[in-house]
Amino acid sequence: MTDRKPSQTAAMIAAYRARGSQGERAWYDDPWAAGLAGPEGDAHRAAMDRIYPAMQLWVDIRTAYLDGLVRRYIGAPRSLRQVVILGAGLDTRAARLASEGVAFYEVDHPASQAMKHARLDALSGYPGSAATFVSCDFERESAVSALGRSAFDFMEPALVLWEGVTPYLQEAAVRTTVRAIAESCHEDTVLAFDYLSKRKEDAKSTRNDTQQLVADLGEPVVWGTNDVLPLLVEEGMRSVETASFDDLCLALTGTYDREREFRFQRIAVASRRVGRFAMLGEPG
Ligand SMILES: C[S@@+](CC[C@H](N)C(=O)[O-])C[C@H]1O[C@@H](n2cnc3c(N)ncnc32)[C@H](O)[C@@H]1O
Repeated sequence: MTDRKPSQTAAMIAAYRARGSQGERAWYDDPWAAGLAGPEGDAHRAAMDRIYPAMQLWVDIRTAYLDGLVRRYIGAPRSLRQVVILGAGLDTRAARLASEGVAFYEVDHPASQAMKHARLDALSGYPGSAATFVSCDFERESAVSALGRSAFDFMEPALVLWEGVTPYLQEAAVRTTVRAIAESCHEDTVLAFDYLSKRKEDAKSTRNDTQQLVADLGEPVVWGTNDVLPLLVEEGMRSVETASFDDLCLALTGTYDREREFRFQRIAVASRRVGRFAMLGEPG
């Protein structure tokens, strides 16, 4: 995503969060998502619904899991004071999970951030100062050097979320981002991100319709890996845990359904500190 329009997939995900907030599951409540998604977000969601109905559950799981991670890390006893959201899109965590003394930083492509500013301005009730906005094209600059232009404190640990972004980046940009976090942020900083396995990226089947849809939106899937651990270690991380979305779905719902095809979506948590986790993403 270098010279391009505001992210349309961000609008689509906001539309999923709008519907997820009203659903029976109600794992989260995003009162601003519908207004942020706009009509095109609804249209993209409707198109995705037709080819991949499980997308709603995937977004719900992702949102619930990462919300939980934020709550656990900013809550006692860890009490992290900084949360960074890379490729934030129309994410509203900074407002939904606001907590006294915790600074949220949203790092995103300037085109997507311009869209977010315009949409937030049109909403009533959104706390405009919930996050500090930092512009960055991950293909051109490291997120860490962009954060250097803000009040982000590199001497303090942070929780860094990177949700729904890595599939759209070249591997070099993924590596640059991970390395910059490992090298420049506090050793206790934790990075959490989702990614696609190579099988998903390469699959020549109906499931590739989803790839076609996002490519048609101008955001082709370009990266995936079957084993993210070597990359994370090569780029400086020393604690790594991963899980499939089937694992997370089972933990949250107690159900498994092969037809959902969650086998291709995975989540990773990583830190430079050895022994950082006691179990997936849990503070060690
Ligand atoms: C699918 S959206 C996810 C948005 C948000 N994280 C969420 O889950 O709702 C993808 C996001 O990645 C961002 N992105 C993609 N390529 C980027 C790049 N090269 N530099 C910065 N941001 C990028 C887009 O701007 C967009 O916000």
